[in-house]
Amino acid sequence: MKTLLVLNGPNLNLLGTREPQVYGTQTLADVESLCLKACAAHGLKLDFRQSNHEGELVEYLHEAGRAQSAGTLLGVVLNAGAYTHTSVALHDAIKGAGVTVIELHISNVHAREPFRHHSYISPVARAVMAGFGVQGYALAIDGLVAMAAA
Ligand code: DQA
Repeated sequence: MKTLLVLNGPNLNLLGTREPQVYGTQTLADVESLCLKACAAHGLKLDFRQSNHEGELVEYLHEAGRAQSAGTLLGVVLNAGAYTHTSVALHDAIKGAGVTVIELHISNVHAREPFRHHSYISPVARAVMAGFGVQGYALAIDGLVAMAAA
């Protein structure tokens, strides 16, 4: 059974209480349950993580690259939070690890402040999903599975 990694960046631990008008009222634990269901439907094991630390996210992406090379990991759904808009280190980590990443945002970042319109992740992501709310996590999992099967 292969694993799929859902990796969440800074402040996503605050889901549920953080700007509910933007991110909704579901918590990160709710998102994990939703991802578990989506993975189970595809016969996948879920690895669900969150970190507020850029370096830790880099390490997780390296680990994911090794697991994908070893054939145990399908890929990563990554919500890098604000590091999306700032992190050359995450860009380089994805590229260097050679890991398949679907970039995900709960909100439609392109309909928000201009500083959210640029992503360091998009050029190294296989696909980008934004604006579907937390349901986007399940859609991204389905998409990653479809891509891997194609
Ligand atoms: C986010 C959008 C980012 O701009 C923001 O910094 C986040 C969450 C989203 O899921 O919509 O932390 O990635």
